[in-house]
Amino acid sequence: MTKDKEPMVRSFHFVCLITLIVGTIIQFSAGSEFVVNKSNKGLTHVPKDLPPKTIDLDLSQNYISELHLSDISFLSGLRVLRLSHNRLQYLNISIFKFNQDLEYLDLSHNQLQKISCHAITSLKHLDLSFNDFSALPICEEFGNMTQLNFLGLSAKHLQPLDLLPIAHLHLSGILLELEGYYVKEHETESLQILNTKTLHLVFHPNNFFSVQTNISVSNLGCLQLSNVKLRDWNCHILITFLLELTRGPNLLNITLNNVETTWKCLVRVFQFLWPKPVEFLNIYNLTVVENIGKEDFTYSETSLKGLKVEHVTNRVFLFSQTVLYTVLAEMNIMMLTISDTPFIHMLCPQATSTFKFLNFTQNVFTDSIFQECSTLVRLETLILQKNKLKDLFKVGLMTKDMPSLKMLDVSGNSLEYDGRDRNCTWAESIGVLNLSSNILTDTVFRCLPPRLKVLDLHSNRITSIPENVLGLEALQELNVAANSLAHLPECDSLSSLSVLVTDYNSISNPSAHFFQSCQKIRSISAGNNPFQCTCELREFIQSIGQVSSEVVEGWPDSYKCDYPDSHKGTLLKDFHVSPLSCNIVLLIVTIGVTGLVLAVTVTALCIYFDLPWYLRMVCQWTQTRHRARNIPLHELQRTLQFHAFISYSEHDSAWVKNELVPCLEKEDIRICLHERNFVPGKSIVENIINCIEKSYKSIFVLSPNFVQSEWCHYELYFAHHNLFHEGSDNLILILLDPIPQNSIPSKYHKLKALMAQRTYLEWPKEKSKHGLFWANIRAAFNVKLTLITENKDVKT
Ligand SMILES: *[C@@H]1O[C@H](CO)[C@@H](O)[C@H](O)[C@H]1NC(C)=O
Repeated sequence: MTKDKEPMVRSFHFVCLITLIVGTIIQFSAGSEFVVNKSNKGLTHVPKDLPPKTIDLDLSQNYISELHLSDISFLSGLRVLRLSHNRLQYLNISIFKFNQDLEYLDLSHNQLQKISCHAITSLKHLDLSFNDFSALPICEEFGNMTQLNFLGLSAKHLQPLDLLPIAHLHLSGILLELEGYYVKEHETESLQILNTKTLHLVFHPNNFFSVQTNISVSNLGCLQLSNVKLRDWNCHILITFLLELTRGPNLLNITLNNVETTWKCLVRVFQFLWPKPVEFLNIYNLTVVENIGKEDFTYSETSLKGLKVEHVTNRVFLFSQTVLYTVLAEMNIMMLTISDTPFIHMLCPQATSTFKFLNFTQNVFTDSIFQECSTLVRLETLILQKNKLKDLFKVGLMTKDMPSLKMLDVSGNSLEYDGRDRNCTWAESIGVLNLSSNILTDTVFRCLPPRLKVLDLHSNRITSIPENVLGLEALQELNVAANSLAHLPECDSLSSLSVLVTDYNSISNPSAHFFQSCQKIRSISAGNNPFQCTCELREFIQSIGQVSSEVVEGWPDSYKCDYPDSHKGTLLKDFHVSPLSCNIVLLIVTIGVTGLVLAVTVTALCIYFDLPWYLRMVCQWTQTRHRARNIPLHELQRTLQFHAFISYSEHDSAWVKNELVPCLEKEDIRICLHERNFVPGKSIVENIINCIEKSYKSIFVLSPNFVQSEWCHYELYFAHHNLFHEGSDNLILILLDPIPQNSIPSKYHKLKALMAQRTYLEWPKEKSKHGLFWANIRAAFNVKLTLITENKDVKT
């Protein structure tokens, strides 16, 4: 919006400048490899090692005092040479005779007193200003520089025929620096200054304005004067000076820089220019001195369209504010800019005003500005940026009688709206309202003009945009950047919204619903918010992927995770979470299915592969191994003859002889068997006891038959000997055939107890399981055990 604030002024400046620039623009397009910058390098001579292909050479701000042919003659392609701010005193222009393409030569700010008379015919820009020439350094030969566009000159005296040699050239700009100028006696003849579109005269900053020579210029479009020091006594000198310059019909633009003047003289200058064809008057850096009194001003018909006064210093302390403001407020022009001044107020024009554009940026205006003012009926743009406004309600009230107001800028004040139930009143015509950089809160939405199209609220203190705001149906652009919003707005009541700016807020979880709600959005900017990269954000990121990326300003670079710490700084674009961890139903289903598959697998393993049996066997095997290892050998070195005694029923003898015994003997395990080792003559029980006591372990092959026929021998034995006490592992029980618990006679307490402990090894029917079964049996034996022989035993 700012771009369009002063279209007319800008375009005019543009026209004035463009003619100056156009001639020199070509050089700047030279490739950067041919640009040599030796500026501010402390050089006292032109360096000898310059690349011969140099096109643009910058030697400004050095201490170079001499320039010779040999310094630059080999730079045959040279087009631009900058030598400003050096110490040249004399220059022989003929040294450039080998630089046939030289177009731009800046020799300003040296100490040149003389230059030789030669023409560089290719030159377009020649700057000789700010030097020590006593008369204008122009000789006949300069008339041959037909390409010349811009000429900068300096002189202490001006003489009528000085400029004659170049009078026929079509220049676009002349800079005439007269800082050393002083008036010679009788020096009142006019100086003919040629055809130029812009003329810039620079005077000495400390000298009072005293140019006596009349300078006349045909075709002049822009006049610029710098350093103009005026008092009441020399005011007429400036006015006489301007009289000649403003004679032509084309002078449309006057700019004064660094003006020090009395108020009286300033008003006289205004009054002088009022009937002239000048359209724009700009005064930059104005100092008002001595006193400010009431001055009459006749607002005759004028061509002036715009007056701009920027940066005012007031050295007058006691004066009537009204006197000052009246002259400005009553001006019958379209555009007035008064900015960066200590002015505290502006008066309401007394009669219907011509102002269309008022820019009062950076003054000290308060809420009383234009209250009850009904004469600004044509006002379209009002800028009150950076003043001391406080109450939004009063700002609304101010616009009440401005029926043409389209754009109001009150940014950079301290505006608040307290939200009391006074109804805000606004000019209905306002389409653009700039409320940025104030201290407004959420209540501001209750105090807005009804037909707003563009609203700038950035840098305020808004925490949320109320859902049911009324009267913003026409709003197309909303800027709420740099506030404290936690959410993106919904567009239910912002039905026309097409541009939204919400950068630098506190939006952590923008809802994806935004894009459905705000159908007309063609640009949203939401970068630099503290995004929480969690599941909720996924939808938003996805919805950004769906709308075209041109809609989302700053994507992807300004959109970064702020939380959790593990993702801090990650671009939202690169933030991915699996759909699983974000979808509860999916998660439960997955866990359920996995659990089910696992259960089925385990069940199948149990049913088809007898998993529990394997587990039990492996478990037993491990335990047995462990125990066998941990028993110290010397404890076993009792008088043992056998590793194992096997007890079994006759019915099971086939299994014992064909399976068990061969398997054990293969491992060198010595066995005590009924038939082989029983001592004849002793009772069965005596034999058994003898056998058990000479064996390291006792193996019982259990089966229903065994219980019926054999167990009776042992039950009694167990009752009296403590050999198989609790926890002893001298006993190995093999369950050949299942024994139903109820088939064990009740008197066999020990057997019942052993069976209940389930410490027996079951003989598996499946062949595949036999290997593990045998491994378990073998693990019970420690083969390091040394046995004594039977004979020895008999002897002892
Ligand atoms: C509002 O004013 C600020 C300066 O105070 C400017 O940067 C911004 O662009 C303006 N907004 C509009 C919409 O003109």
